[in-house]
Amino acid sequence: MKSLGAKTLVYTAPVWIVGSYDAAGKPNGMAVSWGGICCSQPPCLSVALRKATHSYASLDGKGDFTVSVPSETQVVAADYFGIASGRETDKFRDTGLTPAKSALVDAPYVAEFPLVYECRVRHKLEIGLHTLFVGEILDVKVSEAALGADGHPDIEKLRPFVFLAGPRAYHGIGKRLGKAFEIGKKPRG
Ligand SMILES: Cc1cc2nc3c(=O)[nH]c(=O)nc-3n(C[C@H](O)[C@H](O)[C@H](O)COP(=O)(O)O)c2cc1C
Repeated sequence: MKSLGAKTLVYTAPVWIVGSYDAAGKPNGMAVSWGGICCSQPPCLSVALRKATHSYASLDGKGDFTVSVPSETQVVAADYFGIASGRETDKFRDTGLTPAKSALVDAPYVAEFPLVYECRVRHKLEIGLHTLFVGEILDVKVSEAALGADGHPDIEKLRPFVFLAGPRAYHGIGKRLGKAFEIGKKPRG
């Protein structure tokens, strides 16, 4: 094995758009890959934001945010949310996407994206360059079109994509490998 050093070389990370209203009430979204589910009960996810982002003050102040998960066809807009800052522009206007009002939290979500989490900040941890916000998931919303027959979001319909930290690239998700908590019951097959 070749050592690559102490780096955030994660393969893979999610591509999430964290939605919030800024101090002036303008809807904003930023791309976040340093995030993930971090507790089952209460259901929580975490997102790590640099203080320099415009979104930071919104999460730190209001404490309400959303996570909207884009589909492969929405990768260009998702990337834009990670390049431009709401401090200088209106990213919803620029992308033509719609900031929808959440039902439970005071934060907008991306109406056109198929999977949405409504969250409220419960914990904040200063780590270094990034500050980790833990948000309790108050609701998960999925577009009807992305719902599977089993009542769960269907990955073939959602078509989320991932971020690869090394090449700084987006990648689609490959084929199904098997049923979790089942195929490992006979570890030698
Ligand atoms: C794929 C991708 C993932 C990103 N992940 C993060 C992240 O996890 N944390 C962070 O602070 N910035 C991240 N960024 C950068 C922010 O999205 C970027 O600084 C953005 O302009 C901040 O928007 P805002 O100033 O409107 O809040 C990411 C950018 C991209 C393209």
